[in-house]
Amino acid sequence: MIGEHLSTSSHWKRAYLDNPETRVSWYQRSPDKSLEMIRSLDLSKHARIIDVGAGASRLVDHLLADGYQSITLLDIADEPLALVRDRLGEAAAKVQFVVSDIADFAPAGPIDLWHDRAVFHFLITDDERGQYLRTLRDSVAPGGHVLIATFGPEGPDRCSGLPAMRYGPDELAETLGSDFELRDTAEEYHVTPGGAQQQFLYCLFARPAR
Ligand SMILES: C[S@@+](CC[C@H](N)C(=O)[O-])C[C@H]1O[C@@H](n2cnc3c(N)ncnc32)[C@H](O)[C@@H]1O
Repeated sequence: MIGEHLSTSSHWKRAYLDNPETRVSWYQRSPDKSLEMIRSLDLSKHARIIDVGAGASRLVDHLLADGYQSITLLDIADEPLALVRDRLGEAAAKVQFVVSDIADFAPAGPIDLWHDRAVFHFLITDDERGQYLRTLRDSVAPGGHVLIATFGPEGPDRCSGLPAMRYGPDELAETLGSDFELRDTAEEYHVTPGGAQQQFLYCLFARPAR
């Protein structure tokens, strides 16, 4: 399991059971930066998209509204995914929900777009990052894309009671390795429901087609 020492499924379950999802520090009313970068790719509506550590993010609502037909939401905790199922109502039938540690996940087929906001930065050890990156490399198709949003160099070093890494674009590119080419970056100052500002770095990578 990734982050066995701290980032356990029980930790995350508790975060969603103890707080309304609009009060957790990572809550976004609208995931504008992710949407802007995803829309810039002009993907086919059949593109296989996964949001890893999706939580109760509203990204899926917008992707469905944009017409995407193959969306998977993965999270280590079922609680936030249940909130999404309830929120989407009938439209939930168009989405695959997977409760799994990302380290243990094997997709049914290659992924065209991997999205991760605020999950990778919780991986503190080489071993944790290695497991995540193995899943990433095994999952993303040649020609596919990876959009990862982490805390930036001026972001917090703890979140949700857990230690967190901070990345600049070069560091994140180096961590992902030579299988992925950095294509675009963006910075965002996320305002938490409690009013704190957190610097986020968004990096869009392409996996070169073979
Ligand atoms: C800070 S929240 C971000 C949620 C969502 N991406 C967003 O932007 O609103 C981190 C999410 O990752 C999930 N998570 C943490 N570790 C995970 C792991 N190893 N595998 C899958 N999901 C994980 C948590 O349950 C939580 O929903």
